[in-house]
Amino acid sequence: MKNEEIIALLNQDLEGEHGAIIQYLTHAYAMGEGEIACEIEAIAREEMRHLDWLAETIVELGGTPSLERGNMRLEGKSVADWMKNGVLLEEDAMGPYREHIKLIDNPKIKRLLRRILSDEESHRGDFQHFVEKAEKEGAKDVRGTRQDRVADILNWGILHEYTVILQYLLHSYMTKNKDVKREMEDQAINEMQHLGWLAEEMVDGGGSPRIEHTEVDQSTKTSDMLRSDIEIEKKVAAEYDRAAKEVTDPGLKKLLIRLRDHEVYHAEVFSDLLKEEEK
Ligand SMILES: [Fe+2]
Ligand SMILES: [Fe+2]
Ligand SMILES: [Fe+2]
Repeated sequence: MKNEEIIALLNQDLEGEHGAIIQYLTHAYAMGEGEIACEIEAIAREEMRHLDWLAETIVELGGTPSLERGNMRLEGKSVADWMKNGVLLEEDAMGPYREHIKLIDNPKIKRLLRRILSDEESHRGDFQHFVEKAEKEGAKDVRGTRQDRVADILNWGILHEYTVILQYLLHSYMTKNKDVKREMEDQAINEMQHLGWLAEEMVDGGGSPRIEHTEVDQSTKTSDMLRSDIEIEKKVAAEYDRAAKEVTDPGLKKLLIRLRDHEVYHAEVFSDLLKEEEK
C-alpha cells in the first residue's frame, strides 16, 4: 500500500477521533459536575491521545493531518440516550479500525491501530455501564437557554479557544523546529483548559456552550505560523480584557482576566520563538 493511501485511511480515523472528542465533551459539559461527566472527560482525553498518535504517524508518512471533524451523534433527550450514542459512536469507530488493520501492511501502524481499537472496545463497555448509571442516578441535562451578552462573550471565547487548539496542534505537527513544537503542544493543552473553563462557566450560568470553531491558519513555514499565532493571541487578549471590564459578575470577571493573562503570556512566548526562528 502506498503512503498516500495509508495517510488517507489514517486521516479518516483521525476525523473520527475529532468527532468523538467533541461529542463526549459536549455531553460531559451538558451534565454539569458529577462522576459520569468526569469519566467521560477522561475518555475524551484518551481520544485526544489517539488523535495525537494518528497525526504524528500521518506526518511521519509525509502527510498533513486533516482538520475535518468526523460524524457525531449529538441527538437524544436524556443522558441515558447520550450514553447510548457513546456506545454507537465507539462501534462506528471500531469497524473502520478493524478494516484498516487488515488493509495496512506496515507493522508499526498495525500495532498502533490495534492498541487504539482495544481502547475503543473498552470505551464501549464504559458507555454501556454509563447508560445504566445515568438511569439509576437520574443524571440530567443541566444546560439552560441563557442568551444575553454574557452568553455571547462565553460562546465567543469557546469559538476562539477551539480554533486555537486545532491551530496549535496543527502547527505542532507541521513545524520542524523542536522548541516551537514543544511550546505549541503545551499551549494547545492550556487552550483546552480555557475551553473547559468557559464551557463550565456557561453551563453554571444557565447557558448552553456551542462548540464550534472558525478558520485555522494552515501556514507551512514556521515563521508564518508564529506570526499568525501571535496576531491571534494579541487580538484575543485585548478582547478578553475588554470583556472583563464589561461584565459585573466577580467570578466571571476573574476568569476573563485570568484568560487574558494567559493569552498575553502566549503572545510573548511566541514572539520570542519568532525572533529565534528568524535569526
Ligand atoms: Fe479513539
Ligand atoms: Fe485561550
Ligand atoms: Fe492563547
